[in-house]
Amino acid sequence: MKFFIDTANLDQIKEAQDLGVLDGVTTNPSLMAKEGIKGKENIDKHYVDICKIVDGDVSAEVLSTTYEEMIAEGEKLAALHPQIVVKVPCTKDGIKAVKYLNSKEIRTNCTLVFSVGQALLAAKAGATYVSPFVGRLDDISTNGIELIRQISDMYNYYAFDTQVLAASIRHTMHIIECVEAGADVATCPLKAIEGLLNHPLTDKGLEQFIADSKKM
Ligand code: G3P
Repeated sequence: MKFFIDTANLDQIKEAQDLGVLDGVTTNPSLMAKEGIKGKENIDKHYVDICKIVDGDVSAEVLSTTYEEMIAEGEKLAALHPQIVVKVPCTKDGIKAVKYLNSKEIRTNCTLVFSVGQALLAAKAGATYVSPFVGRLDDISTNGIELIRQISDMYNYYAFDTQVLAASIRHTMHIIECVEAGADVATCPLKAIEGLLNHPLTDKGLEQFIADSKKM
């Protein structure tokens, strides 16, 4: 399973990259706003800065909502850097935009996906990634991980190329559950990735080894 980091914070992206296990980055307008990135020029520059830090795919989301605007914006975003994947919402216009961008060999991430039906349409339109939001489903008492399992099973059964990118990952256990559910990618906060390292027996064992090494 690939690891993407879900942030627009350059320090956190660098930290995850330094760990040596990072495969890509996802952003969204809320994450960009959180970093205080404003204005088209600064937004574009920020995406390029992210691409310079990581080796893998970087999702950049369109801000428009109509088909014509989305494809124009998507083409401009894709032209910024070869690592850019255009993130498009799973709406009627969005699905049409995914289909168009795919025909132009521009990679897409179909986002704000909350059902198997939406994931089916995204795959049929040729999305590179589909992003079901695990945490936001959990928030409304619906099992987000179960949706990851259902979409992964469907894609495997019909041999779709679209990769399941589990998004809205909130904590470390979500990552473990994504592995079990067959996600291709999990995009996570840095804290959730680092949480995978935590084990009291590792800490205890290391403490013992260090103590014993002094007796050697
Ligand atoms: O990748 C989508 C993600 O950023 C949404 O996360 O925590 O706002 O539901 P959250």
